[in-house]
Amino acid sequence: MNSKRKTIIAGNWKMNKTCKEAEALLGEVLPKASDAACEVVVCTPYVDLPVACRVAEGSKVKVGAQNLHFKASGAYTGEISAAMLQELGVSYVIIGHSERREYFAETDATVSLKIGAALEAGLVPILCVGESLEQREQGIMSEHIRTQIKIDLANVSAADMGKVVVAYEPIWAIGTGKTATSAQAQEVCKLIRDTLAELFGADTAESVSILYGGSMNAKNAAELLSQPDIDGGLIGGASLKADDFGQIIAAAK
Ligand code: 13P
Repeated sequence: MNSKRKTIIAGNWKMNKTCKEAEALLGEVLPKASDAACEVVVCTPYVDLPVACRVAEGSKVKVGAQNLHFKASGAYTGEISAAMLQELGVSYVIIGHSERREYFAETDATVSLKIGAALEAGLVPILCVGESLEQREQGIMSEHIRTQIKIDLANVSAADMGKVVVAYEPIWAIGTGKTATSAQAQEVCKLIRDTLAELFGADTAESVSILYGGSMNAKNAAELLSQPDIDGGLIGGASLKADDFGQIIAAAK
């Protein structure tokens, strides 16, 4: 963490929690976030967003979505636009999560369009990048991450880059209980920042919050967050338990 940048602890609930369950979980999370030293975000399923926005209103917790469509409106059955999210009171949106890239054929080209749509609607995009175990073992991790960053942010100006959050999520660490070591996570978050500096200039790169995601939990959060280029966490499984999520929030001092 670095005092120049915003520290963000964001929960990605993925496809978990009905509306009623979401209301109950958020009700438990709110008191744990009331004196947080960081920004706290919960990214819920689409259908939970209205109740989450209502429950979180006036609190320190911001609400995020997990995806959007890049078109403003039209014949795109089953899709949700940035304006629909913005009108609900949603502040953040996860874009390019590896699960969407893997299971829903998300490409760097569509990720790039979605980043643009989010920014235009005033939503903060949380861009996810990360390598597979195979890519890491093949020694092409750096090229892969740099390529994702370059294409996904190709249409973003330096001024707008200040509004984007990047999350490094090694695919092999997601939902596996196998966390990257703090040194591994720091190495890639620094690589991301160096790439942002090449593309947008050093000042902009220094201002971007870069999160780590992948089996972050109450036990390992403080160590990961102590790294100079890790400015927060994107948390899956542990964000579904209010106590665990609360301990991660508390670790972000
Ligand atoms: P886990 O914390 O469950 O590994 O998930 C991480 C993640 O994918 C957050 O977006």
